[in-house]
Amino acid sequence: MKLSGQPLLSEEAIARRVHELAEAVSGDHPEGPLLVLAVLKGSVHFASDLVRQLSVPVTLDFIRAKSYQGTHSGGSVELLVKPTAPIRDQQVLVVEDILDTGRTAAALVDWIEAQGPAGLKICTLVDKPSRRVTDIRADYVGFDIKDQFVVGYGMDYDEQYRELPAIYVLERE
Ligand code: IMP
Ligand code: MG
Repeated sequence: MKLSGQPLLSEEAIARRVHELAEAVSGDHPEGPLLVLAVLKGSVHFASDLVRQLSVPVTLDFIRAKSYQGTHSGGSVELLVKPTAPIRDQQVLVVEDILDTGRTAAALVDWIEAQGPAGLKICTLVDKPSRRVTDIRADYVGFDIKDQFVVGYGMDYDEQYRELPAIYVLERE
């Protein structure tokens, strides 16, 4: 596997879109506060950039589910990290790096809903709608992409490439 030469999404394109998403999220929650649940590990850069541009008060916490091996989604999802912040009666924003089949997000939504939040929205930087096998959809989407495997800006292939500042397509050699 190798990286595409040029990024699919440049640092500048990502920064512009994150700014727009932050304005949309802030505008939809003028009264705040928001409990932002960043989905580990892939959304760390995105969540960090996003929350710093929100104009509403935020509590930041983390959640982690495991469902992915290499480039193929497994069927089951396990919750590895649970947030410590109380969720009941909070406006929750789940921040994801990428929605693929939607199984991970569906499992997270089920668990979060069971905690009794006041509201729950999903914000994903990247969406691959053609891959979806669940009826999950994000309230805020940074970029729709076709069915290709991307890395960088937090996203990995077997734990590599998360540190890249832009997003690249991973291609077969
Ligand atoms: P889903 O459960 O199939 O929606 O997969 C969601 C998770 O799979 C994401 O949070 C990523 O960790 C991983 N994933 C899916 N597609 C990609 C990709 O193109 N690049 C890197 N990770 C991906
Ligand atoms: Mg991953």
